[in-house]
Amino acid sequence: MLHRRGTLSIFILQGVIHFATLFNVDEKNGMQFTGPVEDMFGYSVQQFENEEGKWVLIGSPLVGQPAKRTGDVYKCPVGQGKPSDCIKLELPEFTTIPNVTEVKENMTLGTTLVTNPNGGFLACGPLYAYRCGSLHYTTGICSNVSSSFKVINSVAPAVKECKTQLDIVIVLDGSNSIYPWTSVIDFLKKLLANIDIGPNQSQVGIVQYGSDVGHVFNLSQFNNTHDILQAAQQIKQRGGDRTMTALGIDTARKEAFTPERGARPGVRKVMVIVTDGESHDSYNLDNVIEDCENEGIQ
Ligand SMILES: *[C@@H]1O[C@H](CO)[C@@H](O)[C@H](O)[C@H]1NC(C)=O
Ligand SMILES: *[C@@H]1O[C@H](CO)[C@@H](O)[C@H](O)[C@H]1NC(C)=O
Ligand SMILES: *[C@@H]1O[C@H](CO)[C@@H](O)[C@H](O)[C@H]1NC(C)=O
Ligand SMILES: *[C@@H]1O[C@H](CO)[C@@H](O)[C@H](O)[C@H]1NC(C)=O
Ligand SMILES: *[C@@H]1O[C@H](CO)[C@@H](O)[C@H](O)[C@H]1NC(C)=O
Ligand SMILES: *[C@@H]1O[C@H](CO)[C@@H](O)[C@H](O)[C@H]1NC(C)=O
Repeated sequence: MLHRRGTLSIFILQGVIHFATLFNVDEKNGMQFTGPVEDMFGYSVQQFENEEGKWVLIGSPLVGQPAKRTGDVYKCPVGQGKPSDCIKLELPEFTTIPNVTEVKENMTLGTTLVTNPNGGFLACGPLYAYRCGSLHYTTGICSNVSSSFKVINSVAPAVKECKTQLDIVIVLDGSNSIYPWTSVIDFLKKLLANIDIGPNQSQVGIVQYGSDVGHVFNLSQFNNTHDILQAAQQIKQRGGDRTMTALGIDTARKEAFTPERGARPGVRKVMVIVTDGESHDSYNLDNVIEDCENEGIQ
């Protein structure tokens, strides 16, 4: 199936036996390495040499299957007289990028193996991912392993520290034209359920308007998603014959995004406006939106 000819010896993947894949590394001595074929033991193979002697590195990208295909690499001693067992290097544990929420579950480490000319090797897992809020980014990762089989560093250039901190002010139209009010509450529940609220995460404030404006929640009022969800279900419709959307937006900018109500310096500001569209002060909308943009409110 697979033939590799190198300075060390000839590698022959002898065949797929039900639960084991065998390598015949040295035809004369008939050395064999066995590992679970369902883990794709033998998917990648590298000859390797360090102070301790000669090795064959064998990638096994589905180690942990079926639930978690973390993958790993085995070191198999060569030319030490008698065949001995391959040892799993447990690379996934030490292959890590700081300050991100990692998803190593299916990273398939050991899919590729490359030896470094000056000692050590790189083992890569193309399906390494990390999480930003509810989003997953699959970037891949490589583990830089020393000649003594220690992980020196992990390389994943596409990973960016995610800025999950947002100060979000929701501006609700509570005028009489909004009916039924439960549709607004349902929307709010769906929106809030998808925001990670916490001390180092996002904050949400709520302002409601009709003919006039009032603060419902300060940005600093809740420090977890569960509590704000509970409280949001109790929000009563403000009412009002008129729909003063521009006034609502302007008040949110001037008052809701202040440190007194919990806005944090340097944190990205986002305003979400929930309305049925018609407003009695639409002549002023362009101005108040421009003021928001000038203050960095998205
Ligand atoms: C990770 O975060 C800590 C604390 O915020 C910081 O001191 C450290 O420099 C960060 N490390 C990297 C590699 O960004
Ligand atoms: C990992 O792969 C398994 C099998 O395909 C799948 O059931 C599981 O949801 C995956 N986990 C993640 C975090 O993607
Ligand atoms: C791997 O580690 C070696 C030794 O510290 C270093 O010279 C090399 O640049 C590293 N490789 C990568 C891709 O980080
Ligand atoms: C939140 O941030 C503070 C200060 O930056 C830090 O000490 C703390 O560990 C962080 N908490 C979490 C859960 O990240
Ligand atoms: C969250 O808020 C509650 C009540 O306002 C407070 O008791 C608790 O200490 C806060 N937790 C954190 C992590 O700030
Ligand atoms: C919201 O902030 C204002 C201004 O600091 C304060 O007067 C008010 O008591 C706060 N409301 C709540 C519920 O914390």
